[in-house]
Amino acid sequence: MPVRNRFADLLPEITAWRHDFHEHPELMYDVHRTAGLVAERLTAFGCDEVVPGVGRTGVVGVIKGRSTASGKVIALRADMDALPIHEESGVDYASKTPGKMHACGHDGHTAILLGVAKYLSETRNFDGTVVLLFQPAEEGGAGGKAMVDDGVMDRYGVQEVYGLHNTPGLPVGHFETRVGGLMASSDEFDIIVTGKGGHAAAPHEAIDTTLVASQIVVSLHTIVSRNVDPIHRVVLTVGTFSTDSTASNVIAHRAKLQGTVRTLDPVNRTLAEERIRRVAEDTASAFGATAEVIWHPGYPATVNTAEEVAHAVAAARAVSDHVNGEALPIMPSEDFSYMLEARPGAYMFLGNGDTAMCHHPAYRFDDSAIPYGCSWFVELCERRMPA
Ligand code: NI
Repeated sequence: MPVRNRFADLLPEITAWRHDFHEHPELMYDVHRTAGLVAERLTAFGCDEVVPGVGRTGVVGVIKGRSTASGKVIALRADMDALPIHEESGVDYASKTPGKMHACGHDGHTAILLGVAKYLSETRNFDGTVVLLFQPAEEGGAGGKAMVDDGVMDRYGVQEVYGLHNTPGLPVGHFETRVGGLMASSDEFDIIVTGKGGHAAAPHEAIDTTLVASQIVVSLHTIVSRNVDPIHRVVLTVGTFSTDSTASNVIAHRAKLQGTVRTLDPVNRTLAEERIRRVAEDTASAFGATAEVIWHPGYPATVNTAEEVAHAVAAARAVSDHVNGEALPIMPSEDFSYMLEARPGAYMFLGNGDTAMCHHPAYRFDDSAIPYGCSWFVELCERRMPA
């Protein structure tokens, strides 16, 4: 099954938008140029509503179908921000700003959704409303959460939400997703362990904080192996271990551990936090020391709902013969998760072919993936809201 012919016609124009975004990468919420161009184009296409400044620097576009009698409202999301990476991709439209690069293909996602906006504004071959969400600050700034907190889901009556991410290593024209956790939550923790410093030759008069903290590290690694259902995927890593002793003959008074936890569902996320606190505090207590756990919540897991995955897969199958609806999850995180916490929906991986991985200086977005992404979004809207 093919991509829509119209997107083959529009490809040079959409590609030109993409290359322009690529030459002018912007970070986090500071996406003023990109958001300005997005709003300008949405207005030129004839979107019914264009609202800038949502979730600080996000843009919302509203396109009504020929009829809206169905009362259905579907949101489609793209991210607009780049990364603080110095580009080494070798493309002739490389970043003009040293140290900033579209190394995750969000320029491609933004261009794809603009192409969808142009098509849907022209055709309006659906009964309902499409809400386009162009968000800032996916890369660590929780821009998706900022859009949700700004009320986009309630204000526009969104009932379902869909998004996509390009995937290096997956051939162009291939689609992958799954029901349930697709990408991981990403939380961090600090553990401050306080014992009683002293002379290395008189350990009986001290409480050896290094030893206590070591016991905590070993015990933390029982959480994944002994507490988590072995069918589930959880990662726990202690990344740093430091103490305030700077000499071989000194017993440390204080130690600091820093780590991260990745889970694919809220149950294991809660379990991991509870167990980390308990293991650290009680292990320290057993040795007469104390442990303070400081939790830094990051993005939640990206959890797709079953019904919406079925719709997403059906739409992809209309566009491509290569659709895997039972992909394995991956452990990076993604702030589309906040939109999926607010509404049912699905996140789709779009093949980007053989290139360096996302967040690598040599990463390249493959423009031949654009018609597939555009066609998928349009298929989804027209199938979910038939005219
Ligand atoms: Ni990304």
